[in-house]
Amino acid sequence: MGNQFNRREFIRLGTAAGLAGGLGGAVLAAEGRSKPIRLGVVGVGGRGTYLLGLALAAGVEVPALCDIREPNLNRAIEVVAKARGGKKPEGYSRGPLDYQRMVEREDLDAILIGTGMQIHAPIAVAAMRAGKHVLSEVAAAMTLDDCWQLVDATEQTGKIYMMAENCCYWEHLLAVEQMIRQGLFGELTYAECGYVHDCRSLMLEPDGSLTWRGEMVRDSAGDNYPTHNLGPVARWLGINRGDRFVSVVSRANGQKSWQDYLAQKLPADHPTRKIEYRGSDSVSTLIRTAKGVVIDVRYDIISPRPAWGPYHALQGTRGSFESRMEKVVWLAERSKQPKWQPLSEYAAEFEPPKWKQFRQQAATSGHGGADFFVMHEFLEAVRSGGPSPVDVYDAVAWSSIIALSAKSVAEGGKEQESPDFTRGKWQA
Ligand SMILES: NC(=O)c1ccc[n+]([C@@H]2O[C@H](COP(=O)([O-])OP(=O)(O)OC[C@H]3O[C@@H](n4cnc5c(N)ncnc54)[C@H](O)[C@@H]3O)[C@@H](O)[C@H]2O)c1
Repeated sequence: MGNQFNRREFIRLGTAAGLAGGLGGAVLAAEGRSKPIRLGVVGVGGRGTYLLGLALAAGVEVPALCDIREPNLNRAIEVVAKARGGKKPEGYSRGPLDYQRMVEREDLDAILIGTGMQIHAPIAVAAMRAGKHVLSEVAAAMTLDDCWQLVDATEQTGKIYMMAENCCYWEHLLAVEQMIRQGLFGELTYAECGYVHDCRSLMLEPDGSLTWRGEMVRDSAGDNYPTHNLGPVARWLGINRGDRFVSVVSRANGQKSWQDYLAQKLPADHPTRKIEYRGSDSVSTLIRTAKGVVIDVRYDIISPRPAWGPYHALQGTRGSFESRMEKVVWLAERSKQPKWQPLSEYAAEFEPPKWKQFRQQAATSGHGGADFFVMHEFLEAVRSGGPSPVDVYDAVAWSSIIALSAKSVAEGGKEQESPDFTRGKWQA
């Protein structure tokens, strides 16, 4: 099955897997055996270009770039040229499937995918089948079929597939994970998380047509952005490492805020106002795990409110963590009073090892330093041969909530069975 899935080893290393890889990479570099990784990027909009910059800063070579929008492609070509003494990568922009030509190049080791999420999976599958490692932006896939295609391609090719879930590297969430591993929360019983972030301004092009985010509101009734919130929670709970998601129930609340926004922005006769949308302002999902843990997941990228983002909360038999507004914790063994304590009071004691090692390098990167770790850990996994820090089984388990929640909403809240993408290996 290649190097992708060694559950026991991964459990032993926990999320310090990347740290171990990092040390391995440093040793390789010291021995002069480390060659620059050669990366191609598909989709150089906002996110793809940002990650491209991190890759260039990490010493990666970029022989080729692909984007259907020439201005975006040309901008990214200039970014590479500026960083590499004027040497320009080859551009691919002959249409939406031109990435297929690029991934066949022999001078590429890995592909970074930064397109809209509807097409992440087919690009990743094509890249792995062409012998390339993959770093894919979130989410990994929007249909169950695409989830399985990703699993099959990763297992059959032995390539490293990593989903770029940066919230898994947030320092405070890793600190909570350390508290969990030390038993301070007791047995974990319940988690709550959400992505609640007004993204309406990203859904319409200047002419009022839909961006890829707007198209998701048009096409999908479920939780379309589950990984920033669910990923760290799944890590806490040991999903795919002794537990797994078994069922999903979702309810949605209709489109009052979305329709209100369209009415504010577009004239009544604009074609975008005439579309029938499947999506809702807010979708609430309950996931049940094999061990009986319940996860309450909220998704709302439409209702108006000041900026917010992902939040995470946890309940165990001996402790509780909340981060909806303030990051607070209560631990039966430690908190002297029945009062919340700021998590920061434990910062020194529970400083995550990878943050201890790379704090300075991470400090200037996006999303509170988490973006540094995504790129660093992917490159180290490629250099050291794996395992992937956010592997394909994690990626599809978390991403499958998109398809399962949509089906549940469409069927009036009917419970949906979660596939076991590990084919039984979650119990290993
Ligand atoms: N991890 C994070 O914190 C984070 C933050 C923002 C976005 N994202 C993810 O990054 C991805 C990109 O988001 P964005 O905000 O940069 O979007 P964007 O619209 O700015 O960029 C997408 C780019 O992909 C290109 N593209 C579309 N179809 C293509 C195709 N067939 N071939 C080649 N290029 C194609 C577009 O032309 C555009 O340049 C999304 O999946 C999103 O979920 C993640």
